[in-house]
This record gives sequence, C-alpha cells and structure tokens, in this order.
Amino acid sequence: MDDPSTSVLTVKKIPLNDDSIDGYIAKATINRPNKLNALNAEVMDSLKKFCAWVESNKSVRCVIITGAKPLPAEEGKRPKPNAFVAGADISEFVGMDSAATKIKFTDNAVEALWKLTKPTIAMVDGFALGGGCEVACSCDMRIASDRAKFGTPEINLGLIPGYGATQRLARLIGYGKTLEMVMTGEMIDAVEAKSIGLVNHVCSSEELENFTLDMANKIASKSVFTIAAAKRTIKASLNNTLDEGIAIEAQEFANLFDSNDKEEGVKAFMERSKPKWQDS
Ligand code: COA
Repeated sequence: MDDPSTSVLTVKKIPLNDDSIDGYIAKATINRPNKLNALNAEVMDSLKKFCAWVESNKSVRCVIITGAKPLPAEEGKRPKPNAFVAGADISEFVGMDSAATKIKFTDNAVEALWKLTKPTIAMVDGFALGGGCEVACSCDMRIASDRAKFGTPEINLGLIPGYGATQRLARLIGYGKTLEMVMTGEMIDAVEAKSIGLVNHVCSSEELENFTLDMANKIASKSVFTIAAAKRTIKASLNNTLDEGIAIEAQEFANLFDSNDKEEGVKAFMERSKPKWQDS
C-alpha cells in the first residue's frame, strides 16, 4: 500500500529538512471537519490501517497526527470550531450494547497508535475531547496551539473514557487530576494542560505546524534503531517496578553497543563529523 489515505484520513509524506537522510515524516490528518473530526468506524479503520502501513514502511521516520481545519461556513450558518478530534462519534453509540461495544473498543486504532515503534506527535489545534484526548495521549508527545482545549466529557453521556484515558492520561498527569477531569467532564485550556504535563509545548496556531515539523525533523534525524530502543525502554517504566525497569534499561543500553549506529555515532563525535545512521 503506497498511499494509506482514505476519504476520512489524509496522509501526507513530508520530506525531511536534511535531504541527506532517507525517509520522510508521515502526517495523518483526520478529516471530518464538519463533525469536529469525531472518530467514527471509518476513521478508526483508516487509522488502524495507517498504523500498519507506518510499521511496515521503513521510510517513515516520524508520525504526526492532527485534525482537519474547519471548512468555510455554509451560507447562513455559523462556522464550525477548530478541532483536533472532539471524541468518539456519539451518533454511533445510540442503542449500542455491551457486546457490540467490546468488539468495537477491543484492539482498536488508539491501541495501534500506542503500539507503534516509530515516534509519534499529536499536533492539537482546537478541541481534543474524549477519544480525541485519548488519541493525543497515545502519541509520544503533544504539541498544542493556544486555542487547544482538552477534556474527558464522557461522564456527561453516562460513560467513562474507553480509549485508554483512565490509564494513559492518569500516567501522564497523575491520579488526582485524572479523577477531576473524568468526574467533572470539564475542559482545560492549553496553558493548564502544559502546567500538568499533558502537553509538551504550546505555541500560537500560526506557529503550530512549523514548530511541530521542527520537532519531527529533529527526531527523524536520529538513528531509527536507537529511537525505537529509547521508546521501548521508556515505555517499560509504565509496566514495571523501578528495579525491573532499571534491569531492562541496562540490557537495552548494552544491546546498543553491538549496533552499527553506536559505532557510527561515537566515531562521528570523535571525528567531529555528522553521523550517517544505517540500522533500522
Ligand atoms: N460525535 C459526533 N458528532 C460530533 C461530536 C462527537 N463527539 N462532536 C461534535 N460533533 C458534531 C456536532 O453534532 C455538530 O454536527 P452538526 O453540525 O451536523 O449538528 C458538529 O460536530 C459541530 O459541533 P457543535 O456541537 O455544533 O459545535 P459547538 O461549537 O457548539 O460545540 C463542542 C463544540 C466540542 C463543545 C461540542 O461539539 C461537544 O460537546 N462535542 C462532544 C464532545 C464529547 O462529548 N466527546 C466525547 C465523546 S465520547
């Protein structure tokens, strides 16, 4: 599959700033702006296929996930607001029972995104609510514009989060603040999101794309092999005790000493040259 785009997910291959490096940044835009990019079955299916494509495609060095900008307002109607993703598509919940829910929510696209070995960045310009906040939490980093808003409003539907916020959000921002967000359903702005560790960086909406691309380029210029080891090792801190995690780090660190890229990186430092990474 050379182009994983669908009618609800636009995938763009963005060349790297450094053209001596093979590969590109894959930017996936969830494209349902009239429904604030809500996650319906088609979007989830597209995202899952996108993740499989990313994993099997050596050229992808970094992933950016974002939401489509609003379309021009229809005549006589107010414009739709900016959104990353305003949640799961609520219209699909009508009449849904537990059996259907289990099928829909088990092994879903948010998990596929979380399991990617490549680095991922959520670029958030507007509402990131419910499943939108959870898509952002399943990325490695979140970069937000100053008009971004985060929230887990499922409580207002008689629900709790179902795409991992009770676990991943809690690990990002802590137990108490997660309980507050989930139990009140209230939104927080980008500045507060940054102050509690939900967001890595906040910038103006005009700067957001360039800021995110700069970050993606920085990461994409490193060894793919070493980046995967870094991600795997840091993630191990979520599921292990400190002692177990330290043992995992020791093993991962030692393994890198058998890699070509460690030899290359160290040699380049000694020679004051630029490393040419080879491992993948
Ligand atoms: N699922 C399905 N449709 C959604 C949606 C969702 N999660 N969020 C927004 N939409 C749709 C609206 O139904 C509306 O469609 P329409 O124009 O065809 O009627 C369109 O997107 C625009 O949303 P609207 O509510 O009119 O915008 P607003 O500026 O008044 O309010 C929000 C914006 C984000 C506050 C509001 O849309 C909202 O609360 N959305 C639901 C958030 C949520 O509960 N997410 C968790 C779901 S589990």
